[in-house]
Amino acid sequence: MRLRTILDIYHKELDALYGKQEVDSFFNLLIDHYLQLKRIHIVVDPEYVITKSEEQPLFEALSALKLEQPIQYIIGVTDFYGLTFKVNTHTLIPRPETEELVSWILSDQKGNESVDPLQIMDIGTGSGCIAITLAKKLTNARVIGMDISEKALELSRENAISNMVDLSFLQGDILNVTRSDHLLNHKLDVVVSNPPYVRHLEKAEMQNNVLNNEPHTALFVSDDNPLIFYKAIGEFAKDKLKPNGLLYFEINEYLGRETMTLLEQQGFKNIKLKQDMFGKDRMIRAEK
Ligand SMILES: C[S@@+](CC[C@H](N)C(=O)[O-])C[C@H]1O[C@@H](n2cnc3c(N)ncnc32)[C@H](O)[C@@H]1O
Repeated sequence: MRLRTILDIYHKELDALYGKQEVDSFFNLLIDHYLQLKRIHIVVDPEYVITKSEEQPLFEALSALKLEQPIQYIIGVTDFYGLTFKVNTHTLIPRPETEELVSWILSDQKGNESVDPLQIMDIGTGSGCIAITLAKKLTNARVIGMDISEKALELSRENAISNMVDLSFLQGDILNVTRSDHLLNHKLDVVVSNPPYVRHLEKAEMQNNVLNNEPHTALFVSDDNPLIFYKAIGEFAKDKLKPNGLLYFEINEYLGRETMTLLEQQGFKNIKLKQDMFGKDRMIRAEK
């Protein structure tokens, strides 16, 4: 079949759901991923024909898109900070806001000439996007990624290998930390976390492709205790950080002030709230 004909079918079946522009960008991503073809192929050669076996993944992806499955789960990979990460339904799809959090940490560490390795822990590591990017970019860092989900950790280990970085992963529940694991006995320079922070009352604002596909243990907290992870991670960081060590959080845009107050009460100093590219309160840095 002509590739152009398949694009026409995509538009016919999906434009009402996603809009024309997004359907074009899905199609470009899919032909690049499955066929290593660029959009220009359709432009310069509208008669370009692909084989039956080449068509198959494009039609499978079309069915998945009709069910509002995220494109990143369909192709199984996504880009984060210029690196490629495998993702599946056990891991949150890394977001651009989280790239901004990583960028903040990297710029704070720029020019850090310390001869001692920088000890970093990422709590709720998921795909490993934060931990692996920090390990890749900060060559003097020793990074530990922790998550409650063994399935997520399987994938973050694979991502560490494919990105050729050496770091440690640890299965654990930050709400019930047991002191037994030796990885928890290190003193840390940096603790970072993008924990679950969406309240159930915010579900109405969420898109179906997020709500129906991404893992709820990665997303949701109860309406009456939305800072549960921030409180636990703050206490953990207070205990584990070296003097003047830094704690970085991605936060719920509606709870910036409350999260800052919590960290003040826990005794952190120099607490700074930062907005993301959309102007929303999205990140906090605090010093022990
Ligand atoms: C919002 S996702 C963040 C994933 C990844 N760090 C990112 O930024 O894309 C939160 C992560 O916290 C993990 N998590 C949930 N409850 C946890 C707990 N009690 N202890 C440790 N990790 C937990 C989830 O499995 C999920 O991977």
